Amino acid sequence: MSITVAVPRERKEGELRVALVPETAAKLAKQGFRVLVEAGAGTGACYADQAYEEAGAVLIPDARALYEQADLVCKVQPPSPDEAGMLKPGSVLATILQSHRHPELVTRLRDRKVTVFAMELIPRITRAQSMDVLSSQATVAGYKGVLIAAELCPRFFPMLTTAAGTIRPARVLILGAGVAGLQAIATARRLGAIVEAYDVRHATREQVESLGAKFLQVELDAESEGGYARELTDEEKQREQALLWRSVDEADVVVTTAQIPGREAPRLITTAMVEGMKEGAVIVDLAAESGGNCELTVPGEHVVHNGVKIYGPLNLPSTLAVHASDMYSRNVYNFIGVLGQEEDTLAFNWEDEILAGSVVTHEGEIKNQGVRELLERGQS
Ligand code: NAI
Repeated sequence: MSITVAVPRERKEGELRVALVPETAAKLAKQGFRVLVEAGAGTGACYADQAYEEAGAVLIPDARALYEQADLVCKVQPPSPDEAGMLKPGSVLATILQSHRHPELVTRLRDRKVTVFAMELIPRITRAQSMDVLSSQATVAGYKGVLIAAELCPRFFPMLTTAAGTIRPARVLILGAGVAGLQAIATARRLGAIVEAYDVRHATREQVESLGAKFLQVELDAESEGGYARELTDEEKQREQALLWRSVDEADVVVTTAQIPGREAPRLITTAMVEGMKEGAVIVDLAAESGGNCELTVPGEHVVHNGVKIYGPLNLPSTLAVHASDMYSRNVYNFIGVLGQEEDTLAFNWEDEILAGSVVTHEGEIKNQGVRELLERGQS
C-alpha cells in the first residue's frame, strides 16, 4: 500500500484555488503516492477532472470517501466544521490555517488527533523559500491590487502624448514594501505610473529603488526579529503620518500593504488624510483582512468618502486562481518532500525546523507555542 494524498474541493465561499494542480499531482503519482482528487476540485482554477485523471490521480465523487482514505489531505483554506469531522484520526493536514482566527477549529483538530501543518508558519529560511505560501500568495495580491486600482482610477496610469494633448502619468503611492508591496510597485511601474513607496524597514530602500520607484525616507527603522517590522511607538506613528501626509495628498492612487505578523495592521491613513486627497483618488487596502491600513476601510466593501474611493478587497489570490494555485501547489509539493516515509506511513523528523515550525497539532497536543498561548488566553 502506498501513501494516499487527497485533494478536496475547497468549501469556502468564493475560494477558487485548489491545493494541488495536475502538474504536481503527476509528480506525486510518479513518486509512488496514490493521489485522490475530489471531483470538481480544480474547476475554479480551470483544471478539469480529466486533467487530474491524465496526471495519474483517481477522482472521488464524494468528500467523505476521499477523507476516509486520506493519509495526507492538502487544502488551501482551513477545513469547515464538516471537513474537520471527516479527517481521520492519525491523518495529516497541510493547509493555510490562521489559528488566531479559528481557535475552535484548532482544538477540534487536536482532539481528533489530526497532525496539522500550517503552511503560513513554515519558517522563512532559505531552504524553505520554495514552500513559502506567504510570498507566493502575496505576489498575487500585490499584482492584482494594482490592477484593481487602475480599474477604479478615473485617470490613465502611463504618460500619453496624443493629438488630444499630453496626459501626465498617474502618481501611485505604495505603503509597505514587503512581498506584496514590491510586486505592486513593479506592476504600477509596468503600467507607466510614477511610483513612490515607503516601509518602516530601511532594508527595503534598495529593493524599492531597484524597481524604479522613489523611496520615502523616514528617520526610523522598525525592523525586528526575523526581518519583520515591529509595531511603532505613538511618537513614531506621528512622525510617520507627518511624512506620509504630503505624498498621500499628491497621490492619484494609494495601494497599502503594511502588516505586522500576528497583530492588527497598522493604521497609516487617517480620515483627515483621506479628506485632503484629490477628488477621484483611489485607495486599495490590501491589509483589509487584518483590519486595514486606512481608517475608512470596510473589508470587502467599496466606500466613497469625499470623492475618494476606498476598497479593501478580500482573498485576492483566489481571483487569479490559475497561477495562485500553480504556485501554492508547488509550495505544497516541496513541503511534502520534507515529510519522511517509514514503510507506508508518513514520518516526521521533529529536528527539522521546517516541520517543527509549522506543526500545530500532533497526537492530541498543540505543538506550537504561539498557538498554545493564544488558546490559553482565549480560555482565561
Ligand atoms: P508582511 O506582509 O508581514 O508586511 C508587509 C510590509 O509592511 C513589510 O515590509 C513591513 O515592513 C511593512 N510595514 C509594517 N508596518 C509598517 C508601517 N507602520 N509602515 C509602513 N510599512 C510597514 O511582510 P512580508 O511581505 O510577508 O515579508 C516581510 C519580511 O519577510 C521581510 O523582512 C523579508 O525579508 C521576509 N521574507 C523572507 C523570505 C525568505 O527568506 N524565505 C521570503 C519573503 C519574505
